[in-house]
Amino acid sequence: MTEQPGRRTVLAVALGATAAGCSKYGEPSNPPPQTAPANAVLGTTEEIPVGEGKIFDENQVVVTQPVKGTFKAFSTTCTHQGCQVTTVANGTIDCPCHGSKYSVKDGSVVAGPAPKPLPPKQITVSGDSITLI
Ligand code: FES
Repeated sequence: MTEQPGRRTVLAVALGATAAGCSKYGEPSNPPPQTAPANAVLGTTEEIPVGEGKIFDENQVVVTQPVKGTFKAFSTTCTHQGCQVTTVANGTIDCPCHGSKYSVKDGSVVAGPAPKPLPPKQITVSGDSITLI
């Protein structure tokens, strides 16, 4: 006796579900526009004294000119407890809160209690115009 092998066919039926898009009532359908950081013109090179610097409060940046023609920029937020530095004098950027002083050359700590240097900021100098990027 011989058995004939049976053949089975399995059909898989996939049922697709359609999800209708919906938005909650009262919510805007478009996301708010992204606010891209824009380059900000800070000022001119003539405003930055050689060996010292200038604080641009609005942009929270201090621009220094350690040697003629070399410009550096740092955050104005003190690394000790977050006060804003307010003075650039005698080669240092000074915080009024607890007396920290930072070098105009590289933002390094000259006098504590600041635990670390002021973070650098990126600027470009084009002609006599200084731009924060
Ligand atoms: S916050 Fe600047 S010295 Fe304390």
